Amino acid sequence: MRLTTLLVSGVTLMAASFGPAAYAQPGGRQAALMPLPAAMTTGTGQLLVDGGFTVALAGPADPHLEVAAHILIQRLGAKTGQFLAGAPVAGVKATLTLTVTGVSATVPAPREDESYTLKVTPTGASITAATSIGINRGIATFAQLVANGPQGWAVPVVTIHDQPRFPWRGLLLDVSRHFMPVATVERTIDLMQAVKLNVLHWHLADNQGFRVESKVFPKLHQLGSDGDFYTQDQVRAVIRYAADRGIRVVPEFDMPGHTTAWLVGYPELASQPGPFAIERHWGVFDPALDPTREETYQFLDRLVGEMTSLFPDPYFHIGGDEVNGEQWKATPAVQAYMTAHGLKDTAALQALFTTRVQAIVAAHGKHAIGWDEIMDGDMPKDVAVQSWRDAESLKKAALAGHAGILSAPYYLDLNWPAGRHYAADPMPDNLPAGLESLILGGEACAWSERLSPENLDIRLWPRAAVVAEKLWSPRAMTGDGAAMYARLDAVARDLASAGSRHESAGAAMLARVAGPAGVDALLPLAQAVQPLQDYRRSALRPDAVQSTPLNRLVDAVPAESGQARAFGLAVEHFLANPKDVQARAAVWRPLMVWAQGDTLLGPHVAATPLLAELAGPSAKLARLADAGMAAAEALHTGKPMVDRAGREKAVADAADAGAELEFAILPAVARLVKVAP
Ligand code: ACM
Repeated sequence: MRLTTLLVSGVTLMAASFGPAAYAQPGGRQAALMPLPAAMTTGTGQLLVDGGFTVALAGPADPHLEVAAHILIQRLGAKTGQFLAGAPVAGVKATLTLTVTGVSATVPAPREDESYTLKVTPTGASITAATSIGINRGIATFAQLVANGPQGWAVPVVTIHDQPRFPWRGLLLDVSRHFMPVATVERTIDLMQAVKLNVLHWHLADNQGFRVESKVFPKLHQLGSDGDFYTQDQVRAVIRYAADRGIRVVPEFDMPGHTTAWLVGYPELASQPGPFAIERHWGVFDPALDPTREETYQFLDRLVGEMTSLFPDPYFHIGGDEVNGEQWKATPAVQAYMTAHGLKDTAALQALFTTRVQAIVAAHGKHAIGWDEIMDGDMPKDVAVQSWRDAESLKKAALAGHAGILSAPYYLDLNWPAGRHYAADPMPDNLPAGLESLILGGEACAWSERLSPENLDIRLWPRAAVVAEKLWSPRAMTGDGAAMYARLDAVARDLASAGSRHESAGAAMLARVAGPAGVDALLPLAQAVQPLQDYRRSALRPDAVQSTPLNRLVDAVPAESGQARAFGLAVEHFLANPKDVQARAAVWRPLMVWAQGDTLLGPHVAATPLLAELAGPSAKLARLADAGMAAAEALHTGKPMVDRAGREKAVADAADAGAELEFAILPAVARLVKVAP
């Protein structure tokens, strides 16, 4: 392990490459921290976490603190499989003491003190913080530190002083394209807490659904949601649930585009007459609110008034993205208005709209936040920008004096590998000194065109933890992707014990796809593939709609195949040591499994609907794996590879896997074939 010394916040940290945050008890399982704490010193020994584990509270009474203690007890019980005493004990010495100096507010504010100190000795542990919010961050660390070894479950002796790099560490959850029930939202909040994310950005309304009850304009949810919406009582319950975990809830009402679902009940808000129906397709659509009529702003004033009363956070997201202006161009009254007001294009018209809506939001006591495009408006300095197109817009916003958050490189629904998200830093390059504090942080985004309550966790976890680390940990600690990957498996297991269904949902979905063939027959293919990245699935299937089932292999497999990643590393090692028998075996073993998968799956493909599309991919995988084996053999023996043309064709054919998949093992196999004698 490489040793580095990092000076963070004045505290010297001796850090092995993944050492400070990855512990294995002798002979035991590795525990891993993500996000990495800002400063940590390790000692010798450990504190056992057995059935006698207790938690005590100290400092002023705070219901949020009691919930935090319960969360930790529940999480430790789930992780260790032990029955732990249900309630925090008072007045007696406990295994872990949670101490606060102050009481947290009903809901967290944007720049809370989230710092904490965690001390573990062989006889007891303590977490101290200003309020329950820092305690929440500390218990997340404590739960991750618990690992199993010969003496049972334990945490290592350690002292941690920790605080976040950025105050805004969000997760956008799109509940419009596919509705996510309250239980799913609350599970997501649990998992956010586990990795110290602190803002749930609730994308509540879009073309495909208006998902929150409006008592002022009830046709919004009644006609715009297919019955899938949150009542205001449910919204309040979710906000309370999040607050107990130190998490803010920022609602988004995207406008003036992305509003088709609003227009079903209130077509008069659009510049074209309608009627409108809930949009079932994915993409950018023409309907938009009419920015030229006073009635639009009267409506928005009442709606924003209602929703700003429901959502206590000081920020209110007004969207503003992807307005194509087509409806405005097609409406003579709008064109006349633009001419009369000297507006040269629809972007200028949208800027005028944004300026008006921002004033409405401000009149209701909130700061507006919106996507890049709101910068076209005449925005007061308190308006914040969320970058979705690129990091440049964040820099531009900061230069104009606006706070901002980065999302462009953190779209989890695009199926990028974790390392690609991890490589993106929220701080724009060459930002003039003094503007850093305007970069509030960032948000991972879960747009739900191809996410359902069933597969949501497969797309979010563990990759959202990687973004969480980028936003929490000191920059100097987040530069090494290999070190991140070394922790990721342990982090994923920990998330599963905190409630994530990324593994269990994947297993259940694969079982359904496999049908009578059985999961074992499908696993070789499932582990060799990944979903297509970026928007390539949309391009291949423009006919996909809201009701298209998300039950295929492509919906069930993780964005990044762990087996393919391990195979890639094995190939690298083998290429450096081609004569080494073990290095050859590490490459050969998985290739053999992949080469034989088709013989298991093949007989069932014709009669099993969800397997039908996999006949081609399965056959291509067999040929690709065969080619890899032939190449590995040639490299190992030094004898020429048999049938080079056929092997190269197998590699070329595998470039298009089919079924909206790509072969995750292709780059490594292609490399073997290329360099084989
Ligand atoms: C966006 O992705 N249109 C915000």
